[in-house]
Amino acid sequence: MHMSKISLLASCLLLASLSGLLLEPARAGDAAVVRAKVQTLCQNCHGDDGVAVLPGAANLSGQQKEYLVQQLRAYRSGSRRNEQMSIVAKTLTDADIENLADWYSAIKVTVERPK
Ligand code: HEC
Repeated sequence: MHMSKISLLASCLLLASLSGLLLEPARAGDAAVVRAKVQTLCQNCHGDDGVAVLPGAANLSGQQKEYLVQQLRAYRSGSRRNEQMSIVAKTLTDADIENLADWYSAIKVTVERPK
């Protein structure tokens, strides 16, 4: 009982500190705001260029925008779960999701098939 209260408190503090990072409600296409979100909320695991720096995090660069939007909404609603993403996604507004999906999908990647 005592432990679960403590861990509930810890989760609340984590969420509160993540929400504190949200600078202002993002307006679509405000590049500086989107960049700040990428840097504060995503880059530690996915890189600001979408090449994952955390083993186990996905590469996001060049991914279909629609796919990114769907996955972020799924983490936010709880229909897709991951210890880290479920927490991060709960702090995102619809505009954030749109903007972050724009950012990562717009990064150009080149591919080369194995010979
Ligand atoms: C603490 C590390 C961490 C942070 C911060 C983080 N992610 Fe993730 N992300 C992960 C991990 C780990 C996965 C793989 C989760 C899984 O298996 O479902 C993932 C998965 C995803 C996926 C699904 C990719 C796919 O191929 O299905 C998207 C989209 C995504 N992250 C976007 C973001 C965005 C946008 C941010 C910033 C708002 C962000 N993530 C912040 C660790 C992180």
